[in-house]
Amino acid sequence: MIKIDYTDVMADRIGERDGILREELLSFRYFTVETHSLIQREKDNSFYFAKLPYQDITDILETAKQIRENFDYFIVIGIGGSSLGNIMLHEALNDFNYNENHFPKFYVLDNVDPEKFGAVIDRIDIKRSCFNVITKSGSTVETIANFLIILDILKEELGEKYKEHLIITTDPEKGFLRKFANENNIKSFSIPENVGGRFSVLSSVGLLSAAVCGIDIEQILEGARKMDLICSVEEHIEHNPAYLIAILHYLANIRRGKSISVMMPYSERLSSFVDWYKQLWAESLGKEGFGQTPIKAIGAIDQHSQIQLFREGPRDKIVTFIQVEKFKRDFKIPTDIPEDLNYLAGHSLSEILNKELLGTKVALTKSKVPNLTIVLDEINPYNIGMLIYLYEMATAFSGYLYKINPFDQPAVEEGKNFTYALMGRKGYEQKLEEFKSIYKE
Ligand code: PA5
Repeated sequence: MIKIDYTDVMADRIGERDGILREELLSFRYFTVETHSLIQREKDNSFYFAKLPYQDITDILETAKQIRENFDYFIVIGIGGSSLGNIMLHEALNDFNYNENHFPKFYVLDNVDPEKFGAVIDRIDIKRSCFNVITKSGSTVETIANFLIILDILKEELGEKYKEHLIITTDPEKGFLRKFANENNIKSFSIPENVGGRFSVLSSVGLLSAAVCGIDIEQILEGARKMDLICSVEEHIEHNPAYLIAILHYLANIRRGKSISVMMPYSERLSSFVDWYKQLWAESLGKEGFGQTPIKAIGAIDQHSQIQLFREGPRDKIVTFIQVEKFKRDFKIPTDIPEDLNYLAGHSLSEILNKELLGTKVALTKSKVPNLTIVLDEINPYNIGMLIYLYEMATAFSGYLYKINPFDQPAVEEGKNFTYALMGRKGYEQKLEEFKSIYKE
């Protein structure tokens, strides 16, 4: 279960200079009702991500079973929305030592950092490896570059059998990889047309690797369905957690100058969840001069790093804590310890971690830094499914608040296009000229 406490974002707690007035929040009542019905209608189009929790996952489960039976290594090749969700699910829901203790071992080739590429290749046995190439566009340069090198190695080692070691996840019709999969009869999954990279974790993009690694993906989807239900029936701002998060952040940003959104889980398992959120929030909302810069902080580590700035630096931040009530494992401090340290005797590590969260929260509130807390009773597939859907809906709804399209990424495309031009791709000659006119050596 998930609870949200937003008391310390409100003006009656931290003052009107930094906090949101209840009247301000409620003034979005009619906007929310109107937008709510637009969203329900858009679920067959731009909000199609909201339908993913209801998809049929038989093929994903069957394919995952075959991979588990036949391979020792499962490697995702993809970047951005085609890898961050996979990493997030794996880190949140599997043991820290997963790769030491389980098969198939899981790796991600996202960047084109040659040393990282080499390190992954060194760790795997190519003959026992299955590669899932994920790219919606089918043309992202990092993914295609990594794929082409792997393809070459696979062909050299396995000849025509290379096909059995590949799974392609891409657009249903368009792009080089769709053509490649069809022509070579390679197992493939389709990313629904209306679902962009950063909203795709609950499709085969994120679910296949999760299922291969033994994660209960049905529970993830059940959690997402539950959150969809909450967000579908409750159009009242304070009862709809997605709209609430969106409006609070919007008001904090536009009316109180909080241009930075910090997410600070007190659980290292959620570290990659923040990376996923960073992409979702930044790439969806950073447009036309709008958007909040998402920042990652990890409790309690960043108490010894960024908290100084959060409390006494520029008053430009809103902080979201994520608290986990019950951890899978815990350790107690012995009672027979030096008297000076007695305040710790018999306490558990999880107890200290959660007290540190409370201490930091109150310290921020005292400094008038707006902060909300999302409480998970534990980290499990169901709660992670809820959390994913919650942030996807909050982000997409925010598009209406800022009056921007949350589903495109024109500024990202521009960088990709200059890269194609620099690499000499056909059709990008004009882009190269433009590059030369801007870049001065
Ligand atoms: O959210 C997005 O659309 C992007 O971040 C993409 O996921 C990223 O650029 C990778 O694109 P593709 O899946 O087409 O390789």
